[in-house]
Amino acid sequence: MEKKDLDWSALGFGYIQTDKRYVSNFKDGSWDEGALIDDANIVLNECACVLQYAQTCFEGLKAYTTEDGRTVCFRPDLNAERMYNTALRLEMPPFPKDRFMEAVKQVVKANEAWVPPYGSGATLYLRPYMFGSNAVIGVKPADEYQFRILTTPVGPYFKGGVKPLTLCVSDFDRAAPHGTGHIKAGLNYAMSLHPIVEAHKAGFAENMYLDAATRTKVEETGGANFIFVTKDNKVVTPKSGSILPSITRRSLMHVAKEYLGLEAEEREISFEEVKDFAECGLCGTAAVISPVGKIVNHGEEICFPSGMEEMGPTTKKLYETLTGIQMGRLDPPEGWIVEI
Ligand code: PLP
Ligand code: COI
Repeated sequence: MEKKDLDWSALGFGYIQTDKRYVSNFKDGSWDEGALIDDANIVLNECACVLQYAQTCFEGLKAYTTEDGRTVCFRPDLNAERMYNTALRLEMPPFPKDRFMEAVKQVVKANEAWVPPYGSGATLYLRPYMFGSNAVIGVKPADEYQFRILTTPVGPYFKGGVKPLTLCVSDFDRAAPHGTGHIKAGLNYAMSLHPIVEAHKAGFAENMYLDAATRTKVEETGGANFIFVTKDNKVVTPKSGSILPSITRRSLMHVAKEYLGLEAEEREISFEEVKDFAECGLCGTAAVISPVGKIVNHGEEICFPSGMEEMGPTTKKLYETLTGIQMGRLDPPEGWIVEI
């Protein structure tokens, strides 16, 4: 397979149009058979439900070239399942999970020349998404939908790669109790645009959102979950019904316990205890594990002992083990790696 002529190691997290995308349409109560197509543009009615009422959701996963030259995806079954649950919450017809898996394989295969080479630091990002496509003017779900998967080669989500980030505690709420924080709805990201622009203007990489009801507990950032390491080397991560159940975070908890022999716990984390942690990181498909060096809460700084130059030692072990599994350097738990 001849790869595209790109400067892979210079890629940031941006959109680059690739050759093929997968499309399936839902009409008259069923999904059509789906196809790979060339056209990256979508023509919609002016009154399409997605345009008026934001009836849209998405997923994110990656394809990797392993050390021995295979093309693989990481736990796509969990993306299929999460998108299924998201669709139900948004009154959209879920895309069948087995077809999701099949579509992932087809679209990666068709764009194999765009899967960055092993060791380049880049990966092929897959963005499955779905939206209400027919015209709707009264507030109700659409009757017709489109499911698509686009692919784009990406480098690190945060500029500077693995340099520790500085975050700020947001004055805005991300998700209400009993709202949509636990699903991957486009609307969760629309609401985060103003807070992220404000955070960037003030020199921060991301927002730390607290729970909307009490503003005392740590939730997540706009695009990643938190992991913390305690001073006695336990890995802890926030438990909340209004954060996205990150596949990376769930995988890291397993890696911490089963590969590194660490204690790992998902529990409520009060903002008060953050200053006592030894390390902090953001985890997600795009973020992988991005270390956090400092969190600023209205001028008050929390500086983690791991500092602003390097990842903390336990975060680094987690990072190396997870990426080792993804790139085929370490044996994966059963079912984690799907070969294309
Ligand atoms: N939290 C939010 C809000 C996200 O958008 C993402 C990205 O998908 C994550 C967490 C991380 O989830 P995952 O590890 O499944 O990519
Ligand atoms: C991901 O990590 O896949 C995400 O969806 C996060 C962000 C790009 C929205």
